[in-house]
Amino acid sequence: MILSSATQLDTPFKKDVFEGLTSEPKFLYSKYIYDQAGDKLFQDIMALPEYYLTNCEMEILTSHTQAIAGLFKNEATGFDLIELGAGDGKKTKVLLKHLAENRFDFTYKPIDISENAITGLTRTLAEEMPEVKVDGETGEYFEVLERLQHFKSRKKVIMVLGSNIGNLLHPRAIQFLTKLGETMNQDDILFMGFDQKKDPQTILDAYNDPTGVTAAFNKNLLIRINRELEGNFDVAKFKHWEVYDPQTGTAKSYLVATEAQHVRLKSLDLDITFDPWETIHTEISQKYTDKIVAWLAEASGLRIENSFTDSKNYYKNYAFTKVRESKE
Ligand code: AVJ
Repeated sequence: MILSSATQLDTPFKKDVFEGLTSEPKFLYSKYIYDQAGDKLFQDIMALPEYYLTNCEMEILTSHTQAIAGLFKNEATGFDLIELGAGDGKKTKVLLKHLAENRFDFTYKPIDISENAITGLTRTLAEEMPEVKVDGETGEYFEVLERLQHFKSRKKVIMVLGSNIGNLLHPRAIQFLTKLGETMNQDDILFMGFDQKKDPQTILDAYNDPTGVTAAFNKNLLIRINRELEGNFDVAKFKHWEVYDPQTGTAKSYLVATEAQHVRLKSLDLDITFDPWETIHTEISQKYTDKIVAWLAEASGLRIENSFTDSKNYYKNYAFTKVRESKE
């Protein structure tokens, strides 16, 4: 491959795509799936019968609403409810509705990598729950952590639903949790969803639906590169492939080249070649156990205060607090 010195890798997307497609083995970051089409495809995934995660978390939020709201509550000052990766907010609305109906004093601050998701969510909330104070922002997880430092004047509840943390390998997850902890005061709560280990077939089916929605979601990376970086990927020459390792609990997605091919990304002045059956690794979706979550918490200076599960024990939401710093 050849890159002329005149080509500027002047956006994170360009830099990451360049790095990923010139690496061996090739990779792309799953966060780039979520453009307008990707958001829509993810909504379709959440509606798939095989994608149990959404329904399980919905069941948890619906059947434990009061207990969860009780953890969030602060009579004296009220609280800020900050949600990372809010998406369409469908599950969160169950909580918001309860909080609003019971006149909790709070502001809802949804944050998402997708601008489109935030504007949509802000609009639907204004219609459905006009009494809820909403203050949305666009940004990436590690970026918005900085901004969370400013929420120190009253209780803060940080929420990350959907097992979104599963996109991070354990070392990155610990880094993320540690940084979240650094923004937390003693009575702040981190409320997070973790998809659990279960029958490997159930997990594989969730990421390999027969209707091809997940395949289209994965391939949206190539379509986005074609559009935004003047690429000429022939999407039909790639196959979505999912593997799940029941030992490590890691599900991995790939795009596999079904034949040898050349791809040109004009805006990067980059030519890439694929051998037959060469892979692009695109996503990990980590599955957890109580033991692993306890280990992650411990390594990040957090303590599990409470947890809630669904009737099948497929999925769990944990409430963490920060471990008190010991004074010398
Ligand atoms: C939104 C990252 C939690 O990994 O389960 C769904 C994304 N990928 N199907 C997940 C996804 C393929 C999802 N997360």
